Amino acid sequence: MSTAAFPEGFVWGVSTSAYQIEGATTAGGRGRSIWETFSADGAEACDHYHRYREDVRLMKDLGIAAYRFSVSWARVFPEGSGKPNDAGLDFYDRLLDALLEAGITPYATLYHWDLPQALEDAGGWPERETAHRFADYAAVVGARLGDRVDTWFTVNEPWVAAFLGYGSGIHAPGRTSPADAFRAAHHLLLAHGLGVQALRAAGAAKVGGVLNISPVLTPGQVGDPGRPLSEEDAEAVGRIDALVNRQFLDPMLRGSYPAELLPIVERTAGLDHVRDGDLELIGRPIDLLGVNYYTPLVVQAQPSEPADPTYPGSEGVLFCTVPTAVTAMGWPIVPGCLSLVLRRLAAEFPGTELMVTENGADFVDVVTGDGIHDVERISFIEEHLRAVRAAVQEGVPVRGYLVWTLLDNLEWADGYRRKFGLVHVDFATQRRRMKDSALWYRDVIRRNGLLE
Ligand code: NOJ
Repeated sequence: MSTAAFPEGFVWGVSTSAYQIEGATTAGGRGRSIWETFSADGAEACDHYHRYREDVRLMKDLGIAAYRFSVSWARVFPEGSGKPNDAGLDFYDRLLDALLEAGITPYATLYHWDLPQALEDAGGWPERETAHRFADYAAVVGARLGDRVDTWFTVNEPWVAAFLGYGSGIHAPGRTSPADAFRAAHHLLLAHGLGVQALRAAGAAKVGGVLNISPVLTPGQVGDPGRPLSEEDAEAVGRIDALVNRQFLDPMLRGSYPAELLPIVERTAGLDHVRDGDLELIGRPIDLLGVNYYTPLVVQAQPSEPADPTYPGSEGVLFCTVPTAVTAMGWPIVPGCLSLVLRRLAAEFPGTELMVTENGADFVDVVTGDGIHDVERISFIEEHLRAVRAAVQEGVPVRGYLVWTLLDNLEWADGYRRKFGLVHVDFATQRRRMKDSALWYRDVIRRNGLLE
């Protein structure tokens, strides 16, 4: 059988985040984060803080070349600012040493949603100061770990942190103010810009940000992306795209906000929080853009529709369900949209190196005596890899693909019932067991491609 190969040097890996796997929320002087305040679930998670050696060994056995993890801000600054906590940094020292010893390249994310509670008490992301505290944190972590980290990511999915955290309140800190959500979004972008600056000053080799990019389509476009739209639907699609995707892409990669977004921000939050020089700073060049893709957003114009609290400014837009296969989260499975996303980024921001920093799926796993035969997860990843490969063959500069995620873990507000891992975790015993998808992924990595 022939192989649908990927380019030589294509980076294969997995992603995780601190709060979702580390547990040990009070160990080594760690301070409280907004997630412990929001939900009681995080104390143990996968106990990765104590079991990281075993987890690195699992990755080594899988042939993983790159591991994207996040640093817990509250381990480094238990009170959000002041004096850094050496014991917290020591954990990442140990982790990095273990990774390098196993021949795995670390990719570190600085903010994966676990704001120190002390900074939330001082106003959180709607306050500009939080971005400056992030810059201090980036400088300290960059100086301490920079000799072993090749690639840094500043913030992960700022749309989620701002709009689920401060808009709909589905995520920590659970606030429900559309104005605060827009302010939070701007300050997360500012944190990115200041973070890039701080990491470069600390000698970082490569720096980027990670965005969740969801293609916005009408129901009719799900099977036929080129289908022409009515004027009303085109406006609805464009507005949601500006709110979810371009609100972050344009400042980061062009140094400006999309024109159709500004009136929405102005009437919701005013524009005083956007200061002279901010966008220039946010738009300074980065070395790569991390793209998280899971599912498209399907919308159509519906004049009587009230704004959805998750998308302030979405009046007159209906969020639709479509008759396609879905994951256990209920997210439509549309692999072709990953090609669309990658092509679009290459066309709109030529020269920007891309990496798929997250892609994966929650399915109900059945543990049997002879293993976990998660065929749906295998075909989900396989189809999405075909979509990546199609884009690569057209010349889109995608440098790698990281599966979300290594271990079944703590899926934020949904707790432990969501299963995104290649590796099953029994949370009563912390026993790890590779699912069939892990073994399948190991073979993909070995042959640097899929079977035709
Ligand atoms: C994206 C987030 O970065 C990650 O933390 C989360 O678990 C996955 N989406 C799945 O929802």
